[in-house]
Amino acid sequence: MQPSTKPLSSNIETILITQGEIHHRVAELGSEIEAAHEGEDLTLLVILHGSILFAADLMRAMSLPVYLESFRVASYHGGTSSSGTVTMEQAETLKHLKGQHVLLVDDILDTGRTIHAVKQLLTDEVGTASVRSCVLLDKKVPRSVKVAADYTGFEIDDAFVVGYGLDYEGQYRNLPFIGTLKPECIQS
Ligand code: IMP
Ligand code: MG
Repeated sequence: MQPSTKPLSSNIETILITQGEIHHRVAELGSEIEAAHEGEDLTLLVILHGSILFAADLMRAMSLPVYLESFRVASYHGGTSSSGTVTMEQAETLKHLKGQHVLLVDDILDTGRTIHAVKQLLTDEVGTASVRSCVLLDKKVPRSVKVAADYTGFEIDDAFVVGYGLDYEGQYRNLPFIGTLKPECIQS
């Protein structure tokens, strides 16, 4: 992609969720999770890269003692729709989570394949004590895999969104809001 001199926000068609709305909802989620996991040793497993910003804010909205781990998973290999295959690091890198209570933190639940695959890996191969999931966004789409998040920030319609960690071709993650791209900014 060619470097652009225009501000990123000039490529945004609609702001769906503002910075203020995100801030408010993340604080609510933090309190909700904290109340539900009091007295539990919780590990936040952040799915890279999309949930970096969300996880950073979410953990600061909780005063529980939490461990932090990250795991690289990809299901969009460029473009604006899921490739259908989930590529992830080896279970080996998570083996120290055996017997731990894990909260998966992801940016968005789309087809559900990512959360489903990571949950299965933690339960079947790593042997965690429990696995729950928290997503910032839940796209209202018919799911190929039966999966729901335990904690959800916002439900959104089926549109490709960027910002607050979510990318298109590696860009737009640093926008502080969630929005859709102008059609001319998406390569067909
Ligand atoms: P799933 O496995 O289809 O549920 O996809 C989840 C992953 O796809 C997310 O963690 C994102 O990385 C990516 N993704 C899904 N929808 C969008 C979107 O609208 N914008 C950017 N990335 C998305
Ligand atoms: Mg992701």
